[in-house]
Amino acid sequence: MAGSAKSADRRRAKELAAEIRRHEHLYYVRTAPEITDFEFDMLMKELEALEEAHPDLRTEDSPTRRVGGEPLSSFASVEHSVPMLSLANTYGEGEIREFDRRAREALPDECVRYHVELKFDGVAISALYRNGVFVRGGTRGDGRTGDDITANLATVGALPLAIPDRRELEVRGEVYIRRDDFARMNEERVEGGNEPFANPRNTAAGTLKLLDSREVARRPLRLFVYQLAAAESLGFERHSDAMEFLAEHGFPVNTERTLVEGIDAAVDLIGSWRGKREALPYETDGLVVKVDSFRQQARLGATGKAPRWAVAYKFPAAGEQTTLREITVQIGRTGVATPVAELEPVRVGGSTVARATLHNLEEIRRKDIRVGDTVVVEKGGEVIPKVAAVVREKRPPGATPWEFPPDCPACGGALVRDEEEVAFRCDSVRCPAQITGRIDHFASRGAMDIEGLGEKLVAQLVGAGLVHDVGDLYALREEDLAELDRMGEVSARNLVHALTESKGQPFHRVLFAVGVRHVGAHGARVLAREIGSARKLAAAEEETLTAIHEVGPAMADSIRDFFRRKDSLALMEKLAAAGLSMRDDGVEVPRPLEGRTFVLTGKLTGRSRDEAASLLREQGARVAGSVSGKTDFLVAGADAGGKLRKAEKLGVRVLDEAALERILAEGLPEEGPGI
Ligand code: IVH
Repeated sequence: MAGSAKSADRRRAKELAAEIRRHEHLYYVRTAPEITDFEFDMLMKELEALEEAHPDLRTEDSPTRRVGGEPLSSFASVEHSVPMLSLANTYGEGEIREFDRRAREALPDECVRYHVELKFDGVAISALYRNGVFVRGGTRGDGRTGDDITANLATVGALPLAIPDRRELEVRGEVYIRRDDFARMNEERVEGGNEPFANPRNTAAGTLKLLDSREVARRPLRLFVYQLAAAESLGFERHSDAMEFLAEHGFPVNTERTLVEGIDAAVDLIGSWRGKREALPYETDGLVVKVDSFRQQARLGATGKAPRWAVAYKFPAAGEQTTLREITVQIGRTGVATPVAELEPVRVGGSTVARATLHNLEEIRRKDIRVGDTVVVEKGGEVIPKVAAVVREKRPPGATPWEFPPDCPACGGALVRDEEEVAFRCDSVRCPAQITGRIDHFASRGAMDIEGLGEKLVAQLVGAGLVHDVGDLYALREEDLAELDRMGEVSARNLVHALTESKGQPFHRVLFAVGVRHVGAHGARVLAREIGSARKLAAAEEETLTAIHEVGPAMADSIRDFFRRKDSLALMEKLAAAGLSMRDDGVEVPRPLEGRTFVLTGKLTGRSRDEAASLLREQGARVAGSVSGKTDFLVAGADAGGKLRKAEKLGVRVLDEAALERILAEGLPEEGPGI
C-alpha cells in the first residue's frame, strides 16, 4: 500500500538520489564510471520501489525522472526569451580571417580573444533551471519558438536534473549519439528485423521528437552544453568563464576547447584538427570560433539569423569521389525496400566500395542524390560505406530526382508506403526476396543455426519451389535435395541432419528465428523466460507484455500483430508439428561473459567479426564499437590499427584470435592476462 514515508525510507531515498547523481556524473560527464551498469540499475530500481511505495518521496529532481513518463499526444510550445541563433559557415582560412577582420574593424584597438570549440553534429536544445531544478526543455524550432521536450530531455543522463544554484538559468547545448552507441543500436535493430537508422544526428533528432519519453529513455542520447544564455546579466564577463561555471555545476562541457589570442592562433588550431576528429567517439562537422568577451559580443551584435561574434568553420568532407551509376532497390525479409547506390568502384579506407545503402527516400531527398551524380563516399573504422554528399558542380545536365519504382523488383507486386513510416514496402506475402530473407534469418547462427544452409542454397530451394516458408524446411528429404544443382548426396544428407539437429534449439531461438518485428535475440530470450510458451505469448495482453522491463510498446504491438495473423499461427503450428520447441524449459542459459565489454578489430580468419560479436553477445558480453576506459578486452585480428594503439595506451587487455576462440569455447580463465 502506498503511504507516507518513514524517516528511514526518507533518508535512504535521499542517499540513493545523491549516489545515483554522483554515478550519472561519473558515467556521462567524466566518462569514468566506478560501478557496472548492473549495479547502477539496482540503485535506480531501489529508489523507484521506494517512491512507488511512498509517492511523497518523489521529488521534482528525482533521478527516476530519467525513465520517462506517460506518452504525450503532442508537444506544447516554448518561447525562447533569447533567440536561438544559428552560425554562419566558413570553409577555409580566408573566410575565417575575413570574419576576424570584420570583428576587429568593429572593435578598433582592442585585443580579441577567441574561444575555439568543436561543432557537435547533433540537435540544439535549451534547458531551463529554476530554484536549482531542471524545469523545461526545448528544441530550437525556428529560433524563437520550439517544442517543449521537457520529459524527453530529462531522460538524457548527462543533463543534471538538480544544480547547486537557485537563479533562473538557461543552458544550451547539443544532444548527440556516440558512434559506438549508434553502431550497437543499429545492430540490435537489424537483429530485431528493423531497418537500421541512417546516421547518429538524424536519430538523435528523431528521438527527441518522440512523444513517448519511455522510448526516449531507452535510446543512448548524450549532451554537450556550449552556451549559458544571457550570461552577461548573470554577472559573467567571458564565455570561457560561463563554461567553467557550467562544468563546475555538473554540466557536460566538452574539454576540447581552447582560448587563443588573435586569429593566427585560431587558424593554427583549426589546422591541428586535420585528421584528428575521426578519432573522437562522436561526430563533429567543424569548429566554432567565438569572441570570448561578452562586452565585445554585445558590441558586435547579430545579423538576422546569426551572431557577428561567432562563426563555424566546416571541416572538408573526407572520402573519395565516384560516380553514382544507378540506384537499385533491395527487399529485406520484412518487405522493406531499401534504395542502394550502385557506384563506379572506388578505393576508400583500404577497400573497394561499389555499393552503399542509401537508407530511404528521405535521405536521398535530404542529400539531393541523383543518378549520374558525382558523390563523396566515406568509410571510417567499422562504419559501413556511405554516400556522404553530392558534388553539385559536377552534376550532369538533365539529372532528375530519383523516385521509387512502383513495383517490387523481386516479385512485381506493388511497393506501398506506410502512413507514418519513411519506408516503402513490398506487401506481397509471396515475394521471393522476402521468403529468402526470412529463411536466411531463420537458419542463421544466432537463430536456428542450421549448418550448411546459406544464402545461395536458400535461393536455390525457393527458386526450385521446394520451400515456401520456414516450416517447409523440415519436410525436406534427401532425395528432394539431391535434385538440386551442385548438391551431392553427402551434402544432402548433412543438411537433413543439420535440420534435425536444429529441432533441439530452445524456444527463445525459435521465437527469434521466426522473425517477429522488433523481437531480437535478446528480446526473444526475455519473452521466453517471462511468458514461457508460444501459446501464452499468443494470448498475452498488451499490459502483460509491457509490464516486462525490456518490452516497449512497439515490441508488444508487433508480438500481438504476429500472433493475430492466421499465416503466422499456421506457421507456428507447422513448426510445432515438426518437433520444434514451443515452450521455455526453464533452463537458464549460462551467460559467463555478462558484464564484460569486448571490442573487435582487424581481420579474423576463422569467422567474421559479426559472427564473433554475436557469439560473444550470446554469452552475455557487450560488444562495443570503440575502445574506451570501459573496454575489458580488445580482440585484434590481422592489420589492426588505431584501436590496437588506443587499447595499448589505455592498458586494455589485447587478445589474439586463438584466445578469443578459447574464451568462446571454455569461458574466461580464472584470472589474469595469461589468456
Ligand atoms: S553556439 C549563437 N557552439 O550549430 C551561437 N553551436 O549552426 C549559437 N552547434 O544551432 C550556437 N556545436 O546546434 C554553438 N560548440 C557549439 C556548437 C554549436 C554545435 C550547433 C548548434 C547551432 C548550430 C549552428
